Amino acid sequence: MTKNIDSIDKKNLFHPITNLKTHETDEVFVIDRGEGIYIYDANGKKYLEGLAGLWCTSLGYGVQELADAASEQMSKLSYATLFTSKSHEPAILLSEKLIKMSPFSRGKVFFGNSGSDANDTQLKLYTYHNNALGNTSKKKIISRLKGYHGVTVASASMTGLPAQHKLFDLPGKNFFHTDTPHFYREALENESEEDFVNRISNNLEVLINQEGPETIAAMIAEPLMGAGGVIIPPKNYFPKIQEVLHKYSIPLIDDEVITAFGRTGEIWGADTFDMKPSSITVAKQLSSGYLPISAVIISDELYEPIKEASGDIGIFGHGYTYSGHPVACAVALKTLEIYERDSVFDHVASVSSHFQFRANKLSNFNSVGEVRGVGLICGIDLVSDKKTKSGFSPIGSAGRAVAQACQNEGLIVRAIGDVIALCPPLIITKEQIDEMFDMFEIALKKAESKIL
Ligand SMILES: Cc1ncc(COP(=O)(O)O)c(C=O)c1O
Repeated sequence: MTKNIDSIDKKNLFHPITNLKTHETDEVFVIDRGEGIYIYDANGKKYLEGLAGLWCTSLGYGVQELADAASEQMSKLSYATLFTSKSHEPAILLSEKLIKMSPFSRGKVFFGNSGSDANDTQLKLYTYHNNALGNTSKKKIISRLKGYHGVTVASASMTGLPAQHKLFDLPGKNFFHTDTPHFYREALENESEEDFVNRISNNLEVLINQEGPETIAAMIAEPLMGAGGVIIPPKNYFPKIQEVLHKYSIPLIDDEVITAFGRTGEIWGADTFDMKPSSITVAKQLSSGYLPISAVIISDELYEPIKEASGDIGIFGHGYTYSGHPVACAVALKTLEIYERDSVFDHVASVSSHFQFRANKLSNFNSVGEVRGVGLICGIDLVSDKKTKSGFSPIGSAGRAVAQACQNEGLIVRAIGDVIALCPPLIITKEQIDEMFDMFEIALKKAESKIL
């Protein structure tokens, strides 16, 4: 059965974010079902989902209330558009809820289907807004090396990772990348954290002046970098960066696709790292990964000129068939209701110290150069030599070996090059945190005998 499925997969399925060449010979990992924080493969083997799917299944698997919310909405109204002033209750109530949760006292919510399309929307909203106000030279976007904002043409251009650019003719001409705020890897010898932050904020200012402040539409940043290797910004990073942005009146787009809702122990990652965003992107945990839905949340200040201009043109010409899909909105509403009812963010805050304690203990391993994290997310940076912080050849070989060893033990993690990311469902208990790190330690010990 599994063999058969494996060959049908290889014959027909084009896998996203995959080494398509090694896929032909690698065994396909077929996942069959999920329950709580665990998934089961096609052979019935149980795994603790240490990455919450792809940083998204915050409430875990098999939540009947979410399935019921979807089923009830499908029976009642399976589809409706939001185009041309049509509307429906799930989208209306979800937009109200998101504005209430947001830092904006008055604002609007634009729905999409993925983090990538939402970040495309962000760019289009700023472009439209600026053109409407006659600021027609404001076209450039600044993001960071190792930032991840998605894979559409615009969002992949914002992304600062080579694999999302190579052979795709990206990034596009209006996209510029500034420093990665990673003290462990990017600081100069003997540079203090404070000096590092000052240096990279100065670099940002230099870039802005090189390009011309009047040509820059916005900067986009994740509160913490997820797919770039779980990079936690150094102290005072965002206040410093924003001082520079403020000086040149450049808005900051807050990409909360991984951090919202509650990943850091607070609703917004922006709160944890003192970011003051002009607009916000959310996806993933908005529906606990049960259905695809994303949202761009903007203030009315940003919205007003867009509204006026659309009146002149006759229509605001952007939107997806599935913008505000009623079933996805109903599931998202139920997800937000559960977060509140079950005090999920307080739960994260209360178990995260144990999670970070267990994560930090991994620093005792010879192959662990840095452990970094906040709330219920961490990155374990593997090195071949702690002193020199040197990596592995080929890059990613150690990460792959550790991830495979974890999988053998019954733990799913994500290897990002030679960084291992852990980001379990937010509902994980203290005992399950121990179970996860116990498995990780066994796997790392086994893998070390091969990689060191
Ligand atoms: C911060 C961030 N932004 C955007 C995206 C893209 O989201 P999607 O994969 O839903 O397009 C991701 C995906 O991991 C992400 O982590």
